[in-house]
Amino acid sequence: MFIPEHGAVLAPMRALTQPPFWRILNQYGPPDAYFSEFVRVHENYVIEPPWIEEALQAAGSVPLWIQLMGNSLKALTASIRVLKRYPIVGLDFNVGCPVPKIYKKQTGGGLLKDLSLLKTLLAGLRELWTKPLCVKFRIGFNSTEDFDKILDLLIESHIDLATLHARTVSDLYKGQPRYEYVTQAAHRCPFPVLANGSIESVESIERVIQQTHCWGVMLGRSAFRNPWIFSQWKSFKANQTFTLPTLMDVYQYLQDLFLAFQLDKKTEITALGCMKRFTNFVGLSIDASGTFLEKMRTAPTLKTFWSVCKRHLLQQPNTPYSDKPFPQLHAYPNKELQG
Ligand SMILES: Cc1cc2nc3c(=O)[nH]c(=O)nc-3n(C[C@H](O)[C@H](O)[C@H](O)COP(=O)(O)O)c2cc1C
Repeated sequence: MFIPEHGAVLAPMRALTQPPFWRILNQYGPPDAYFSEFVRVHENYVIEPPWIEEALQAAGSVPLWIQLMGNSLKALTASIRVLKRYPIVGLDFNVGCPVPKIYKKQTGGGLLKDLSLLKTLLAGLRELWTKPLCVKFRIGFNSTEDFDKILDLLIESHIDLATLHARTVSDLYKGQPRYEYVTQAAHRCPFPVLANGSIESVESIERVIQQTHCWGVMLGRSAFRNPWIFSQWKSFKANQTFTLPTLMDVYQYLQDLFLAFQLDKKTEITALGCMKRFTNFVGLSIDASGTFLEKMRTAPTLKTFWSVCKRHLLQQPNTPYSDKPFPQLHAYPNKELQG
C-alpha cells in the first residue's frame, strides 16, 4: 500500500505546503506522503517540468502526490502527459476547493454540484493515469443529500485512495467536522480513505482513527502549528514516549522557516507576510489570551515581528510547547495571504 495503515500525510495547502516547508518537515520528522498544493490546469496552462522537479527534490524520500484541479479533460490530458515522465507516486484530483471564483467555474468543490461532469472527468482520469489516483473531496456542496451518490461515483470510478474533508464546501473550514461521514466512506469504499478536517494532535489522530476506522489521516493546519506532529504520531504508534518541544524550539522553527523560504532575499513586506502566515498557526498554542497572536499580527516591520517572537518565546525558553491549540483562538492566514 502506498500509504501505511494509520499513516499520517501532509495536506495540500495553497501557498503553504510548498517545497521549503517539506524540507523543514524532512528534518523534524516527515509525514507518510506529501500532497502538492493544487495546480489549476486549463486550456492555457500545462503543469511545468521545473515545478515538478523542485517538488520531487524537496520531497526527498517521502512519496509525492501531485494535485491537479480542472474541469477539462483535454487540459488534464496535457498535464498528465508531462506528469507521466516523473516518479511521483500518484495523482490527486481536487473536488473540494471552496473558493467562489473556483467553484463557480465548476472546478474544485463546484464539481460536487455537477456529478455527471465529475463522473466523466474521473472516467477520463482513470483511463489516462494508471498509477495511484486519489480524489480529495468534501461531504457535499451545501448539504449532504448527495453523499451516497458521491460515494457510488467514486467506487465506480475505480480510484485508489480518497481523502474526505468532513465538511461541506459551504462550511469552508469552520464548524465541527462531521466524521460520521468518514465512518460511512471507510465502511463502504473498497479503497483506503483518509480522514481530514481539524485533526489537531496525536490524541485527536487516535480518536478519529478509532471512531471512523479510516485508513489514515491528512493533517493541514496543525502541521504548521506543530511541525513535530508526524514524529510524535510515529513515536506514539511505536509505544514510545515523546518529549514536547520547547518555546525555544518554536523560535528555532520560525528561524528555519525564514531561511527555508529564503525570505532574506525578499522584500520586507513579502517576508513579513510570509512569516505572519505561518506564525498565525503557531500563535494558537502560545498563550490562551492570544496576546502573542495579536502582537505578531500587528507587527509593522520584521524587526518588530522578531522582537515580539523573542519576548514571547525566549523569556522562558524551556517551557513546553503544547501540542494542542487553545480552542478560543483562530488563525487567519488568508488575511496575510491577501495582504
Ligand atoms: C490556506 C489554505 C489553502 C488550501 N489549499 C488547498 C489546496 O491547494 N488543495 C486542497 O485540496 N485543499 C487545500 N486546502 C484545504 C486543506 O488541504 C484541508 O483540507 C483543510 O485545511 C482542512 O484540514 P485541516 O483542518 O487539517 O487544516 C487549503 C486550506 C487552507 C486553509
